[in-house]
Amino acid sequence: MNQADLIIKNAHILTVSAQGEIANGCIIVKDKKIIDVFEGPLRNYESKKVIDAKGKLVLPGFVDCHTHLVHAGSRANELQYRLQGMSYQEIQQKGGGIYSSVKATRAADPEKLYQQSLERVKLCLKHGTTTAEIKTGYGLNPATEKKMLDVIHRLNIESDLETIATFLGPHVYPDDQEPEAYIDWLLNEGLELAKKDAEFVDIYCDVGAYTFEDTEKFLNAAKSKRIPLKIHSGQFEALGATGLAADLGAVSADHLDKVSEAEFDALLRAGTVPVFLPGCSYYLKTAYPDARPYLDANMPVALATDYNPGTCPSLSIPMMMSLAVMHMGFTPEEALKAVTRNAAKAINRDDCIGSLEKGKQADILICKIGKLDDLIAMFGGNFVGTVIKKGLLI
Ligand code: NIG
Ligand code: FE
Repeated sequence: MNQADLIIKNAHILTVSAQGEIANGCIIVKDKKIIDVFEGPLRNYESKKVIDAKGKLVLPGFVDCHTHLVHAGSRANELQYRLQGMSYQEIQQKGGGIYSSVKATRAADPEKLYQQSLERVKLCLKHGTTTAEIKTGYGLNPATEKKMLDVIHRLNIESDLETIATFLGPHVYPDDQEPEAYIDWLLNEGLELAKKDAEFVDIYCDVGAYTFEDTEKFLNAAKSKRIPLKIHSGQFEALGATGLAADLGAVSADHLDKVSEAEFDALLRAGTVPVFLPGCSYYLKTAYPDARPYLDANMPVALATDYNPGTCPSLSIPMMMSLAVMHMGFTPEEALKAVTRNAAKAINRDDCIGSLEKGKQADILICKIGKLDDLIAMFGGNFVGTVIKKGLLI
């Protein structure tokens, strides 16, 4: 008999790997990793910790590959503005939107910023998210961008959520200094900071945010420093940044509500992960993009929450899956792959997380339901029962 640290038996497993669906099987965990996954009753292994998952669905931990989880303040007041007919851009022009979060985040002391973010991390874990990418971008100045990076790293060390830092210094142009001066900082010290403290850089290119020209400068400069690229593009208009990012070999291109045919082809050519963010369409009451052409072209389509205080204050990955299935042309299986394996690819982690297979990190969810369809159908509920991160029960 081989000794394991943890065994899950009698489980209905969706491996999201070549092994596919296992109607009744076992997962064996040792040293934080999955060492075996097989069909049928428990054999060859024993452990002091055995979970009987009879009647339960077992999934890989969810990967939320696009969030703005670290920020201070709330923007719940914007709900009323938008219900009165003000657009996201109009609210921003009046000093609300991203600028209101920047003000609060600049003013927050690091400990307070950490504690507020930690509450959100707990919500992530409760809803089955075991890894999350987190962006800066509510600083728009050197000190606050650094403060955000420090909080993202502290969360990774001190909480049960694995976090990945993305430098989004170019979120919007700051309103308290000349754009040229800030861009100069971004292209020099900003990118040095990103290279040291972040895994990716990102820029928001759209109406009300960075121009195509500034996006081109920033991405090229980041690429020459060999920092992996991400992009926020096509949320409101197709300004060309999706195609640009793909041509520069970006790891992912996110939002993609508006994408030209040429940009679609560029994504396909480059293998850039298209990341859809249905929570924004829901909360901004805009049309949902059709993901079917991307799925049919066999692109590694991902889904994320885009959690942020203004356009998607939700951290629920199952809710995003449900929206994607009901409104964007995903099958439940495609939605699951989009929040696990493909989301892991969107953060360059598909070698170690995103599926339940031998050698991968033991990030596992045991759900209080028997079938994937139930997770999609019972939208708004939380059916994640047990969360296992790196082999440990949380
Ligand atoms: O991904 N689109 C730009 N940035 C965020 C929203 C940030 C905010 O409104 O605070 C997004 O949707
Ligand atoms: Fe975003």
